[in-house]
Amino acid sequence: MANIDEKMIEKLVEQAMQISRNAYCPYSKFPVGAAVLTERGDIFTGCNVENASLGLTVCAERNAVFHMIAEGQQQIVVVVVYTPTPTPSAPCGACRQVINEFGPAAQIICVCDGPDRLQVSLAELLPNSFDRSSLE
Ligand code: THU
Repeated sequence: MANIDEKMIEKLVEQAMQISRNAYCPYSKFPVGAAVLTERGDIFTGCNVENASLGLTVCAERNAVFHMIAEGQQQIVVVVVYTPTPTPSAPCGACRQVINEFGPAAQIICVCDGPDRLQVSLAELLPNSFDRSSLE
């Protein structure tokens, strides 16, 4: 991947794995962590937060993006997602749509408990997306 420092990727991976330990996931027992790198070089993290009303669950990726917005930034360059799986899992459709709002050209790096990583662009995950230009 062009222009993104390997050390920064490893830092994002470390932070995604670390924040997954704070996941509130008593129902799925599937802790996920996400780390967003912004254009300014800052990192914002999030974990999944479930609820007894199951449909109110918010994924780690969206919580990381919302954390970024709350701190006054809006340009996503990379999202690293950690799932506790033997092979990497890509973000769900809702999270793809939310990432698209702030990082249509973002790189998504999915890491897991195994050695494999999945690296794709958001555009590959969400082709022909609905975005603000669709409202014009
Ligand atoms: N989850 C995430 O946080 N991110 C994903 O990319 C996939 C799913 C969460 C939602 C729920 O708390 C648990 O993982 C099982 O779906």
